[in-house]
Amino acid sequence: MKKNMLAGVALLGALAMAVSGCAGNTGETPGGDGGDDVIKVGFAQTGSESGWRSANTESMKAAFSAENGFDLIFNAADNKQEAQIAAVRSFINQGVDAIVIAPITVDGWDDVLTEAKDAGIPVILEDRTVSASEDLYASWVGLDFEQEGRTAGEWVKENFDGKGANLVILEGTTGSSAALDRATGFGEAIEGTDINVLDSQTGDFTRDGGKKVMEGYLQKYGSDIDVLFAHNDDMGLGALDAIKAAGLTPGTDIQIVTIDAVKDGMTALANGEFNFIVECNPLLGEKAADLVKAVLAGDTVEKKTIVPDQSFTQEQAKEVLDSRPY
Ligand code: AHR
Repeated sequence: MKKNMLAGVALLGALAMAVSGCAGNTGETPGGDGGDDVIKVGFAQTGSESGWRSANTESMKAAFSAENGFDLIFNAADNKQEAQIAAVRSFINQGVDAIVIAPITVDGWDDVLTEAKDAGIPVILEDRTVSASEDLYASWVGLDFEQEGRTAGEWVKENFDGKGANLVILEGTTGSSAALDRATGFGEAIEGTDINVLDSQTGDFTRDGGKKVMEGYLQKYGSDIDVLFAHNDDMGLGALDAIKAAGLTPGTDIQIVTIDAVKDGMTALANGEFNFIVECNPLLGEKAADLVKAVLAGDTVEKKTIVPDQSFTQEQAKEVLDSRPY
């Protein structure tokens, strides 16, 4: 299919049919170029840093399947912004019909998004946001990260305000909208409390990162730590190992609040090792695929689509664990 021209092309096709008086299948594609009508999409994924990311990749691959009319070129950038930008450039050079990006960081997208726009290739963002002008992309589908952070902070406030509790934070990838917005929402929620933030460092959304940073916190602050807020389940799960190795009991000696609600995180919550999880829904594939089709058909689409999240206590995790889809 020719880029970005489905609507016009469909109209031309209908006119051609009317002129020739032919009601049957001409064997031509919507593009009328003798090719096929498959939509070629380049998807620039962040990498494979977490359980959430695996679920998101699966959801995207299922939605952008050949069965659904897509030819998907998938790239995972190993959490490196330059690699992700290079992947997008390569999609432009390959003349794809549309590009989908889960942007690693907020900044740095202006040039390559302008290049895509100049080439007439629509861009759909999924998951994280960018600071570039909204004119440079067609639509975004994702989560309200700020609200996720706020919900986590409200739980911490409810359970620890007035106790002079000591908190440590494991931040997500530096410069990502997920980390920036969660930090903002969480900070707002605990503002004005007597909760003491001992430290806040990045664990890059990975288990290894969470474990290493938590080991450092434990060496420095030991059993003074009352509560940990990890920007995702995986860093919280890495921290569990560090806490146990330090001879402390996660969920009791150090209470743990995380974001994502993937299977391993929810299992830790149901087992009493985590204390509260705010969901971040990774199943964005279908919505992203619908957006690509709508944009290529020339339909007007929402600039932003926010997928709602819920949150879970230990009791709620026990109830829903078996029915969780990811
Ligand atoms: O952008 C969403 C975040 O990215 C998820 O919370 C985290 O697990 C992932 O790596």
